[in-house]
Amino acid sequence: MPKIKVALVGVGNCASALVQGLQYYSARSKDECVGLRNSLLGGFHPKDIEVVAAFDIDGRKVGRDVSEAIFAEPNNVSKLADVPPSNVVVHKGPVLDGLGEYTKHVVQISPHPEANVAMVLKESNAETVLNLLPSGAVKASQWYADQALISGCAFVNATPSFLASDPAWAQKFEVAGLPIVGDDLIDQVGSTTLHKTLLQLLSMNGVHVTETYQLDVGGGTESMDTLDRTRDVKRAVKTKSVEAALPYAAAVVAGSTDYVDFLKNRRDSYFWIRGVHFCNVPMQIDLKLSTSDAPNAGSVLFDVLRAVKMALEREMKGAVMPVCAYGFKHPPQLVALEAAEKMFAQFVTEEE
Ligand SMILES: NC(=O)c1ccc[n+]([C@@H]2O[C@H](COP(=O)([O-])OP(=O)(O)OC[C@H]3O[C@@H](n4cnc5c(N)ncnc54)[C@H](O)[C@@H]3O)[C@@H](O)[C@H]2O)c1
Repeated sequence: MPKIKVALVGVGNCASALVQGLQYYSARSKDECVGLRNSLLGGFHPKDIEVVAAFDIDGRKVGRDVSEAIFAEPNNVSKLADVPPSNVVVHKGPVLDGLGEYTKHVVQISPHPEANVAMVLKESNAETVLNLLPSGAVKASQWYADQALISGCAFVNATPSFLASDPAWAQKFEVAGLPIVGDDLIDQVGSTTLHKTLLQLLSMNGVHVTETYQLDVGGGTESMDTLDRTRDVKRAVKTKSVEAALPYAAAVVAGSTDYVDFLKNRRDSYFWIRGVHFCNVPMQIDLKLSTSDAPNAGSVLFDVLRAVKMALEREMKGAVMPVCAYGFKHPPQLVALEAAEKMFAQFVTEEE
């Protein structure tokens, strides 16, 4: 199979889990790929994904091989695999709005000169730029989307900055003849998916949900960034996505809330659901989900990167709706879970 050549923008926890996951699964056959939703997708195995370039701003990452940079502080995802040297060195990109009020005390800006990002993308033969910047880095995310356009790369926006779902940005990629997918990656077993599934199950069984909330605490740098810059946008994205799971209006609040350093890369999510069932009798669910944040993105990232490769091969351009709906919380149009699943399954099988 041809390689899926990916450039990482932001070598944080998510990038670390992705790179470690590539190593972990590369040695495993299709049937040994436990923990993945799809071991093969469109004929691609995870080992077909190759990181060919990487960008960050932190002095503990810039100038180092990706295999070392992924373990540098402040990353705190656990060790999942031994990663051999990749011969891909992390380049310095522009800071722009990369740091927030809290994270500026945690990220150490590298004194290295800035690389010519478009040139690095071209020279590395990158096909897809994967945006893993902090959620508050809206300007930097837009800047890297422009670099992807200049360099002829597809763009995957895992962050909650609105790009694929912004018609003006989708149009830019359409005009350039390149695919874009986003925004805000869905986790493999994330709070949003679990919340939506629970609500669907209840409403399908005739329960009338009256109120529900879902609150998170995490210890990654991203949770810290959420404190001052992106709490509102994240809450709006998650709430809208969860509301779409119910066929009627209810009081819904879903969103990240706090940073607890000793949790490291763990994320604890609390769910509260109240409703009524037979004869208006009340019922409630009070639940906690504990996950490791960055590995929770790995399986979906593998699928999205392979699907974008398929979109590139089919010369698709602009926002690729089946991939956006399947892999992201804020696609250009919100669709119900089953509809998103169907769209994606159809997209994948069209290839075969
Ligand atoms: N399960 C998940 O981890 C998950 C799920 C959905 C969405 N996301 C999104 O993925 C993104 C990455 O999450 P993370 O946990 O890896 O975050 P992180 O804070 O661990 O990593 C961000 C990285 O970006 C770097 N950076 C900051 N500004 C930069 C700039 N201008 N140029 C280049 N690099 C810069 C930081 O130094 C850091 O290495 C976030 O936007 C998050 O919302 C993650």
